[in-house]
Amino acid sequence: MFSDPPDPSDRLFSAAQQVDSPAFIIDEGALMKNAGILQSVAQQSGAKIVLAQKAFAQPQLYPILGRFLHGACASGVWEARLARENFPAEAEVITCAPAYSSADITELLPLSDHLDFNSLTQWKRYREQCLQFQKERNREIRFGLRINPEFSTGETPLYDPCAPGSRLGTTADHLKRAESLEGISGLHFHTLCEQGFDDLARTVQAVEEHFGWLLAQPQITYLNLGGGHWITKDEYDREGLISLVQRLRLDYALEVYLEPGEAVTIHSGILVGTILDLHESGGVNNAILDLSATAHMPDVLEMPYRPEAFRVAGQEKGEEKGAHTYRLTGNTCLAGDQIGDYSYSTPLQIGERICFNDMAHYTMVKTTFFNGVRHPTIYLLPAASDSLQVLREFSFQDYVSLKAVDKESG
Ligand SMILES: Cc1ncc(COP(=O)(O)O)c(C=O)c1O
Repeated sequence: MFSDPPDPSDRLFSAAQQVDSPAFIIDEGALMKNAGILQSVAQQSGAKIVLAQKAFAQPQLYPILGRFLHGACASGVWEARLARENFPAEAEVITCAPAYSSADITELLPLSDHLDFNSLTQWKRYREQCLQFQKERNREIRFGLRINPEFSTGETPLYDPCAPGSRLGTTADHLKRAESLEGISGLHFHTLCEQGFDDLARTVQAVEEHFGWLLAQPQITYLNLGGGHWITKDEYDREGLISLVQRLRLDYALEVYLEPGEAVTIHSGILVGTILDLHESGGVNNAILDLSATAHMPDVLEMPYRPEAFRVAGQEKGEEKGAHTYRLTGNTCLAGDQIGDYSYSTPLQIGERICFNDMAHYTMVKTTFFNGVRHPTIYLLPAASDSLQVLREFSFQDYVSLKAVDKESG
């Protein structure tokens, strides 16, 4: 139903010749085009549209995105801080994670405008602390609950938060049995992935069926429709979305939020690599690149999917079948570090560059710290003593410095 990504522009191909390899290249103009479409949908519908940083967390671009978007959504402390420190001061930071530690709550309260809880048990655990903070804070903070409408519309189980037994969100059944919802003023659902408006409309219908009684309560002041909306694709029914948002705002007297990631960054970046070796084995022509599916493009293996692969010189796109077929592979020890099989009209050469299309969303963040999650500390338990030694630990500064390199200071 949705079209393939457009081919990289001549400017991107030319940039791909100049960068160090491997490299991601972000196309600022493409990013601004997406953000402009989202801004127009927000203006027409009254929705508040924020960037889902889990898809794109490059803070140097936040001042520009902040001109178009209402703010950012965060999956935890590091993303919340990244947004707070890099989006314009008036931007909202809205946070939702599957679970918070007590330390997370203490750090997130001053950083967040919405703090959404995944379960009633988490809300109950932190409610007093949250409400106390709310009383003392001069900037408004609202607390919400992630709901699970138990209505699947996607095709990939790995990406389905409504699969039976899902840990993501509170079901209607649990909510009906809740002792008290005092202090909760928002509902949040996220169930879509790369989907069109029809799936959202059907999901909202299910949400209204199961949670309409709560949406109608005056205490509920916002509804967050999550991400997964391919709003910036040409085929997306943006008029349908605008009408739906307008209706929800009117029917329930609430603010509507959308938190797309892909729609902000789709078709705005490439990953460039170089062929290090060509190596035939059992009839397969392996082309080993200086990048890796498992380390740099894990969605290729997890989802799985086959990204478009172009020869940078000549701009030829790899096809499913053709005269010269190669398995493009990574440079790690994992036997399955393979990107896919691609055919070209003439043989590939060692040293030539390949670029993978549409790599700005999710691929870049998965190369660094996905969701801004803290990496585990590495301890050593010495053979001769019980005193643990920290060998390596990771801080917010590591997260940021992986994202912001000051070329002048090296
Ligand atoms: C809670 C939540 N919100 C927003 C998003 C962004 O989704 P997308 O990048 O598909 O728009 C995700 C993605 O997994 C998510 O889990």
